[in-house]
Parts: sequence; C-alpha cells; structure tokens
Amino acid sequence: MTFTQRHLLGIEPLHPTEITALLDLADQYVDLNRSASKHSDALAGLTQINMFFENSTRTQASFELAGKRLGADVMNMAMQTSSTKKGETLIDTALTLNAMHPDLLVVRHPQSGAVDLLAQKVNCAVLNAGDGKHEHPTQAMLDALTIRRAKGRLHRLRIAICGDIAHSRVARSNILLLGKMENRVRLVGPPTLIPSGMSEFGVEVFHDMAEGIQDADVVMMLRLQKERMDGGFIPSEREYYHRYGLDAEKLALAAPDAIVMHPGPMNRGVEIDGDIADDINRSVIQEQVEMGVAVRMAAMDLLARNHKARPREVEV
Ligand code: NCD
Repeated sequence: MTFTQRHLLGIEPLHPTEITALLDLADQYVDLNRSASKHSDALAGLTQINMFFENSTRTQASFELAGKRLGADVMNMAMQTSSTKKGETLIDTALTLNAMHPDLLVVRHPQSGAVDLLAQKVNCAVLNAGDGKHEHPTQAMLDALTIRRAKGRLHRLRIAICGDIAHSRVARSNILLLGKMENRVRLVGPPTLIPSGMSEFGVEVFHDMAEGIQDADVVMMLRLQKERMDGGFIPSEREYYHRYGLDAEKLALAAPDAIVMHPGPMNRGVEIDGDIADDINRSVIQEQVEMGVAVRMAAMDLLARNHKARPREVEV
C-alpha cells in the first residue's frame, strides 16, 4: 500500500508516489464508470456524509455519485442555511456527526483551515472538498488525471495557471501537486490577483498573458472569485477579458496541441471565450468533470482501506 493517509485534507502532505497511486486507481474507476453496470462494493456498509457550508454543483454531485457507485450509504446535509461561523459551532457539529458513526466525511467550508480542525475531532476519514482559499485536493487530483490522460505524462510539462490566483484554492492545490510531479508551473494574472512571494513555490510569475502562455502545454483558466474579494481587484470585467481572458488569439501563442482547462463554474466572456470552452479539439473541461467522479471514488476507497487496516487512531 503506497497511500498511507487517513484524511485527504490537502495536497501538501502527499508524497508523489501517493499521488500516482491515487491516479492509477482512479484510472480503473474511469473504466468502471464507462461500463454498463457502474457499481462496486468497495464502500458497502459504510456511511458517507457530505457537509457543504458553501455552494457547489460539480464537487457535491460527484462526491455523491462516487459514494453511491461504491455502495456507501450517502447523506447530504444542507449546510448553506446554517451558521458559517467557526469555533464552537463547527466543533459541535463535528461531535454531533461523529456520534452517528460516519466512515467518510466530505466537507466544504468558506474558512481556510476549518476542515483540518474538524478532522481533529472525528474518528472517521475526512475529505476536504475546498476550504476557503486554502486547498481543494480532489480538484487538483482530477486536473492531474485529466492532464496525464491527455498528454500521456504528468511531468516536465509547461503549465500556465491563469487568472485569480490570489483567491483560489484550486490554484494552490494545483501548484503544490504539479510542482511535486516536476512540472514547470507559470502563474499568469494581474499583480492584484497574484500574491507576492509565489516564486518560493518554484513557479514563474507573468503579468503579461502573451508571455505567460507562450508554448504552454496546458492552459488552466480560473474564475474571478468575486465572493472572496472585498474591493477593486480589477478595473472592469471588460478590461480584464481584454488583457487576461482566453480567446483564440491568445491561445494561438500556446503549444499547437495545448489543452484548455477550467475547474468550473465558468464565467464566459470574463475569463474565457465561450467558443474556446466548447471547442472539443482544445477544451478538456468536460473530461475534468468525468475524471472528478473517478478521482473521488479512488480517494474514498483508499481512505476507507486505511481506516479498516488501522481503526480509530484518533480518540475524541
Ligand atoms: C472551484 C471551487 O469551488 O473552488 N470549483 C470547483 O470545485 N469545481 C472553483 C471556483 O469556484 O471557481
């Protein structure tokens, strides 16, 4: 067993061999998901609870589908209407849930670090489905699987991550994962949307889109995270699209076989031209969604195996 984690809280603690082990298993689940009978008993008898304290379409749907395809009992808790406060409230929620004996807890929360905190209070495996601006590990894993299948490898690729880096947990998890796998990662965006000191992460920073995208093998576009902005980070969406939106003219500067990615939800005409997003010869956005289900199946399968092998390490 090369995957030794008890939780999937972020990419940061993972060893490259653990990333590869998870992606290899996910490849097998892609085959299962493409077959007529999409069912396995890997999580039979186990209970999965999804707690989304923030809106989600793809991530929540794919975690739910992943659990059901593996035979788990899946429950979705409607958290949007409840308190998004941290501290006591979150811990109380965790303790309440823990008393119901879940085996897998999938959590999305607007505050960075909230999911780690929760993981310390429960006995079961916790999966981070996105915490604030911190990490979104299954998104980085599904992006990695999409890249590996499209390019035939996951190393020594030129990957441009473009747009709102500052507010993006997707960018953070991708920077960590792609760096661990020895790719050349470039960050492209206006100075207001790229935190200073990013070069410590072994990435190159570009404020000029044409330079940043030049000869890239992978162009990953990010949404402007307006809900996490508290002021004027961009002059206007029109100006932003002109300088940093991916259109045919800018994409022509990337490698001729470059793939275009976006984690969704997309803002067409803000960070990406709709025609590029829909171009099946360039865009792998739908593949990303497909890989998302397989990656989440693999992650939950591996964590459940580790908990079965070493039960109840954490005492509450
Ligand atoms: C992302 C997220 O929620 O972090 N979406 C997703 O999970 N597919 C990116 C975003 O919201 O822009």
